[in-house]
Amino acid sequence: MIRSLLHIGLIVPDLEVGRAFYELFGLHAVASGRDLVFRCPGRDQDQVRLMQGEKKKLAYAAFGTNETGMAELKRRLEKAAVPVVAAPFDVPFGGIWFQDPHGDWINVQIAEPAPVSDVLPSEINAHGRYRRVGRACDPSSVNKKAVPLRLGHLIKFSPDVNASVEFYTNVLGLRMSDRCMDILAFLHGSAGGDHHLVAFAKSSHTGLHHISFEVADLDEIEIGAQTLLRAGYKDGFGLGRHIGGSNYFHYIRDPWGSMAEYFWDIDVIPEDDSDWVPLNVPPEKVVMVWATTPPPEDFVVNFEEP
Ligand SMILES: [Fe+2]
Repeated sequence: MIRSLLHIGLIVPDLEVGRAFYELFGLHAVASGRDLVFRCPGRDQDQVRLMQGEKKKLAYAAFGTNETGMAELKRRLEKAAVPVVAAPFDVPFGGIWFQDPHGDWINVQIAEPAPVSDVLPSEINAHGRYRRVGRACDPSSVNKKAVPLRLGHLIKFSPDVNASVEFYTNVLGLRMSDRCMDILAFLHGSAGGDHHLVAFAKSSHTGLHHISFEVADLDEIEIGAQTLLRAGYKDGFGLGRHIGGSNYFHYIRDPWGSMAEYFWDIDVIPEDDSDWVPLNVPPEKVVMVWATTPPPEDFVVNFEEP
């Protein structure tokens, strides 16, 4: 049923602080009523909506489905006795609203995410597959910036990962990709796609761990991260390569203690995922294949107030 992640809403105490961070990250800001909405350059798709409020808080996640999926979702919500209610925020889009087992708001719309830029990254000369022959690597790369292509996933903190998994799979139709006991679980969409659309990390309460944007190549991950670090933003973790999803990553702390991640080269799971066997890995093997540093001690600290 849930086929895509459309955007997330965040309540933050200062929109302009958010604008400075996300614009330097590579997103474009557009005023939308009293809110600030961020999109990837050249793509007609909201990705982050910042709403003014007292304390920073993940407000909601907006997902996409199709007509059949919406009908099935409504049936399952009714069966699970989850009330569908009027929009709890003053936002200019439709869809249905309800809360997950821990009170986090979910919006689901009949919508397909806008197409992502069809400009292909430069070819890579990997051993045995030399694709860039007779020409140098793109010389414009010396002036390169990170250009986020799309919001790929969010990781939420959950006080009960198993309860979150049960709700998001049984009611919303997401599917298990890989997990680490009751500490971390990665779920993919019902139409396949990225290894994870949503993941849950154990904490005492809910909150946003990170949101993650795909970029065109490894250069852009590190150019983006270094740009933010030079501007004084705090390092989150990276550069490295994950186990769950296999993607290269670099996380930077946003101004409120959650993180924004650049990713590249993530695993893709087909719509027919019957051949995909979810792993259940021990905690010491869950984070990375390699990274330039060990994960910082605060990597899984939930800085969002309950
Ligand atoms: Fe991620």
